[in-house]
Amino acid sequence: MERTLSIIKPDGVRQGVIGEVIRRFESAGIRIAAMKMLQLTQAEAEGFYAVHRERPFFESLTRFMSSGPIVVMVLEGDGVIARNREIMGATNPKDAAPGTIRKDFASSVEQNVVHGSDAPETARTEIAYFFSEMEICA
Ligand code: PPS
Repeated sequence: MERTLSIIKPDGVRQGVIGEVIRRFESAGIRIAAMKMLQLTQAEAEGFYAVHRERPFFESLTRFMSSGPIVVMVLEGDGVIARNREIMGATNPKDAAPGTIRKDFASSVEQNVVHGSDAPETARTEIAYFFSEMEICA
């Protein structure tokens, strides 16, 4: 059983699609093992995206990610890392396939509604950034 971290970003919360995003996960048979809403400080967003700190968009991305509440979730299921990324669609909504979350709701490569871990090691690190083992319902 695999786990991944999902974030509904501030633009998703502002658009009122929290329920719709969760519905898409649950309809696909993905289990939500943990969930909470919070607002990151910019320093906390910088910590989360530290791997991108040399990228030109780092300041803008971390400012955006701390601009309002987010919903963080641990998703659980067989092959959930890849399945979540399929449901999300490509990072840039212009490249996202029809029926994906980003195609339907994202406005740019930055304001793209959802984040999902890209590999098992990243998933472990990202889940630990937000959740203790006690907060995850196995
Ligand atoms: S990479 O190289 O595959 O890791 O990069 P990528 O997946 O394309 O993007 C990583 C995260 O950075 C965000 N991003 C941007 N934000 C602002 N401006 C620009 N130009 C930009 N390009 C990429 C992108 O939304 C990714 O966010 P997460 O939360 O990881 O999905």
